[in-house]
Amino acid sequence: MSTYQPTLEYARQRDAADPLRSFRSRFALPVDRDGKPLVYLCGHSLGLLPLEARTLVNEELDDWAKFGVLGHEGSRRPWIPYHENLTEGLSQLTGALPDEVVAMNSLTVNLHLMLASFYKPAGKRRKILIEAGAFSSDRHAVASHLAWHGLKADDLIELAPPSGSDLVREEAIEACLAEQGAEIALVLWPGVQFRTGQAFDIARITRAARNAGSAVGFDLAHSVGNTPLSLHVDGPDFAVWCGYKYLNGGPGAIGGCFVHERHASEARRLKGWWGHEASTRFRMEPEFRAERGAAGWQVSNPPILSAAPLIASLKIFKEAGIGRLREKSLALTGFLESLLPPGLQMITPRESSARGCQLSVRITGRSARGKNVFDFLSARGVVCDWREPDIIRIAPVPLYNTFEDVFRGAELLTAALQRA
Ligand SMILES: Cc1ncc(COP(=O)(O)O)c(C=O)c1O
Repeated sequence: MSTYQPTLEYARQRDAADPLRSFRSRFALPVDRDGKPLVYLCGHSLGLLPLEARTLVNEELDDWAKFGVLGHEGSRRPWIPYHENLTEGLSQLTGALPDEVVAMNSLTVNLHLMLASFYKPAGKRRKILIEAGAFSSDRHAVASHLAWHGLKADDLIELAPPSGSDLVREEAIEACLAEQGAEIALVLWPGVQFRTGQAFDIARITRAARNAGSAVGFDLAHSVGNTPLSLHVDGPDFAVWCGYKYLNGGPGAIGGCFVHERHASEARRLKGWWGHEASTRFRMEPEFRAERGAAGWQVSNPPILSAAPLIASLKIFKEAGIGRLREKSLALTGFLESLLPPGLQMITPRESSARGCQLSVRITGRSARGKNVFDFLSARGVVCDWREPDIIRIAPVPLYNTFEDVFRGAELLTAALQRA
């Protein structure tokens, strides 16, 4: 028998029984101008500050002050191999071998580096398959690679959802590959779609792409730190992500990249000194000898101050465990879904396996109605976000959100809709 009761009392009982509840105190929780706590449901856009990040950044500033250039080798976390502080945590979150991941750059830069290596148009096989409505930066990146190779816009296939739906199902991707696979050189797909919150079956898409003879990569901006991943086994050629959403690395934080181990010795890449084998890098010889694995795709030396907060966050992920976080995440989104008022349409899939932390709702009715609802929420301290023309994205994050946050957010959403 279910004890479910959609009351504040019930939400508080769920919080009291939550084995992960203590992690909330490890984050800075935003407040409004009067110091009143906000209901922060926006980790899909910018994760919260892990309190320990401040210490880590200050330590780097202190070491810079104390050591100057000698800090490259002599600081408490030497700066030359600094990215290695992030390798274990990233490999655990992505289900990759340590050599298959590296923290570097930001997402779109990493995507360009990956396209340079893995988009190899030849003869009839030259098309790139992406989703219609892909994140603008991804579309710009693939379009620029087509142009770089002297190809035209019709070499970009943009797979749209069937009419009346917001979702592209894996079957449709398979069908497209079955039909046009001989002409497709690369598939780029999101792990979780940024607008709808739909989580895709990475193994299945990878299989379909590889069976069709295409390279395949994933934009995991909305997946890493959100849904459990098993990139090594699933086998895409590459994946890229940013560090500031579910990874809580801070605004503009260092991103990351996965390159499957079968490509460890891929010669075709854009090179820079930091991808050179570390033991001989400072000989500064003209020949490039790549560092093992994904680290060999680094171009520049790592940005220490943007990487330090991620060390603090990955430590918390390790303690919490992505499996337990996923369990709580499903409970939070299930609770949120049960509280959604009438007058809106949830566009995120109902199956829990096909979504992560984020639920996206379409505010139906006049176009200005949605914006009014969103403004009402913002004015009352609910932080979520608005995607034109009619979508509100709401993401309870299991590391720091509570069932009470979800209850309060849903209560205000209900009030907003009644008013609108
Ligand atoms: C799905 C997706 N792809 C790409 C990007 C671009 O990331 P960056 O600015 O780190 O290149 C974002 C940023 O929010 C994103 O959400």
